[in-house]
Amino acid sequence: METPCVRVPREDGEQTRADLDDRGLLAHDYEIVVEDDHIYIPVTDPNAVPESLSVHTRDVPVRETQTLPEDILGFDPSYERLGDVVIIDEDDPERARAIADALVESAIPVETVLNRASKVKGTERLREWEVLHGDSTETVHREYGCSFALDVTEVYFSPRLATERHRVVEQVTHGERVLDMFAGVGPFVVPMAAAGATTVGVDINDRAIDYLRENARRNGVADRVTAIAGDVREVTDDYADWADRLVMNLPHSADAFLDTAVSLAGDTCRLHYYDIQHEDDPYGPGEAAIRAAAEPTYDVTVETRHSVRSYAPHELNVCLDVVLSR
Ligand SMILES: C[S@@+](CC[C@H](N)C(=O)[O-])C[C@H]1O[C@@H](n2cnc3c(N)ncnc32)[C@H](O)[C@@H]1O
Repeated sequence: METPCVRVPREDGEQTRADLDDRGLLAHDYEIVVEDDHIYIPVTDPNAVPESLSVHTRDVPVRETQTLPEDILGFDPSYERLGDVVIIDEDDPERARAIADALVESAIPVETVLNRASKVKGTERLREWEVLHGDSTETVHREYGCSFALDVTEVYFSPRLATERHRVVEQVTHGERVLDMFAGVGPFVVPMAAAGATTVGVDINDRAIDYLRENARRNGVADRVTAIAGDVREVTDDYADWADRLVMNLPHSADAFLDTAVSLAGDTCRLHYYDIQHEDDPYGPGEAAIRAAAEPTYDVTVETRHSVRSYAPHELNVCLDVVLSR
């Protein structure tokens, strides 16, 4: 079957395979192929493969021992995996039931199948779920070498943002002081601490903070993670002028927290500001809001204007990487 594959010299095969597996990019349903001096490793998402690796589309055999949901259904359903929880997004109840049954019957390791039953909503950015199979909505998800325990019904977590989080995490240097103002279960904080940063994660959702503490322990970085439950505008007085780096992943309303961000920033501070805006001007409103909050105390330099993903028709989820210099 024609499948995108990472092509590397034979001697780099195992390391590359393990790295792609850590990133959740290995297409387990297909065989790895060796040809001449090269190995072809099938991947799930060619766009998420690091730029240093080359991707080629080629014919690779489907793993014979595995029955896939599409083999059972006769069509290729779309789903996301979060540990052993599989998430689908189906309006038609009969189709949802058929997909859930096929997922459970297939070779994919599934404990629970959930159907999205509402949009993400409210302060804690949660959604409603329909449980189609299984008892537990708690799982452990692996992302770029870190593992995250979480319950999707209690906390926000999107596996789709793995590549974006990794892009930001890769910028962190040893000894930095990082504060994530909307930290969730720690998908920025934990790998940043693993990179040697001293980190603070704040979230208004108590359960997210419980999981953040557990995930810091689970990944061996509890000594570099401080987890604080509460409204970031009210619980961060101890960190005034403290941060070398701030993460603001609360698209739609991050602008309301920029005064707090400025109060937390040290003399030089990198800010990763997430926003959702119309495609006609995806960066302008965020940049204007940052300048209004930070100038003239800080010089504001936008280092990167980065499109993360399409959010809705004509709407983009974007990130501004900004340097504030006092
Ligand atoms: C979009 S989620 C991002 C979570 C995490 N950074 C991630 O990438 O998975 C936003 C988070 O901000 C938290 N939040 C919302 N308002 C908040 C506030 N005023 N103070 C602190 N956290 C808040 C929510 O509970 C939620 O966990």
